[in-house]
Amino acid sequence: MQSNDSAASFYSEDFLDVDRWFQIADADYEALLKSLNLNTLFPAKAKRLRLLDVGCGTGRFPTLLRPRLEIRAPIIEYDFIDPSPYCLSIMRESLTGPFKAGQALQMCAEDLDVWSKEPVATYDIVWAIHSLCHASAAAIPSIIKSLRNLLAPKTGVGLIYIHSRHSFYTQIHDTYRKVFPTPIAPFMTAEDYAAAFDAAGSPWCEERLHFVHEISVQDDALLESYLHKCILDPTQALFKWWSSAPLRELLEGYRQGEVYRFPQQVALFQFNF
Ligand SMILES: C[S@@+](CC[C@H](N)C(=O)[O-])C[C@H]1O[C@@H](n2cnc3c(N)ncnc32)[C@H](O)[C@@H]1O
Repeated sequence: MQSNDSAASFYSEDFLDVDRWFQIADADYEALLKSLNLNTLFPAKAKRLRLLDVGCGTGRFPTLLRPRLEIRAPIIEYDFIDPSPYCLSIMRESLTGPFKAGQALQMCAEDLDVWSKEPVATYDIVWAIHSLCHASAAAIPSIIKSLRNLLAPKTGVGLIYIHSRHSFYTQIHDTYRKVFPTPIAPFMTAEDYAAAFDAAGSPWCEERLHFVHEISVQDDALLESYLHKCILDPTQALFKWWSSAPLRELLEGYRQGEVYRFPQQVALFQFNF
């Protein structure tokens, strides 16, 4: 299995504080839910759909999606992959009707090329939500090809949700990597995937979603937990961040009175077979 080690080790029971994280990051999923046409994606007349979730994490998106689906929503046979065994087990527990848990595989998006050459299934929907930022740059063209190959011909829909290089996610990650010696790999961004889609020459479309993450300046525990998750490195306590001029200036630049307002920009790519 290929893997980005820092991402793989952070997504474990020891480091993930999902309650604190989703207090802030649910904004990402709300923006995505607003932008998707759920009746088109999950038509009631379909009765049964096959879905593959690439980099499934702990299942926050299907959990928020479930109450938005119509009562008559089709059964969604849900396969999922992730390099983190912890995420795979939490994900399985979180899937309830209309989602029906299927195959769970411990693997990275980079490994899909082998699988997609002789797919065990073709999917009505393949999505990768906030996960492909962890892939390696060299693997992006083959990841796009694999995701396409896994789609049902003509009708399958592929979705990639990934932050832009103009987002706070990228800014804080890049600044942190310059300040602290760390093995953390740079994030891949929406712009890297747009360039690879262009080079591949097959049809795709993209929408940019904008939202803000707000944290009270009084809430040091929440700020520290949020920043650690943004950069996938819990080793530096918040006071060490403040002692670095570039990090302090970046954070203070987004302070408005008693609140930090971190602007995020995320791309939603849609493509077919
Ligand atoms: C920010 S979380 C998003 C999880 C989930 N999709 C969600 O939105 O809640 C990123 C996920 O990508 C997984 N991941 C890390 N490297 C990956 C890779 N190379 N390929 C696929 N997934 C990866 C991590 O283990 C983690 O579960």
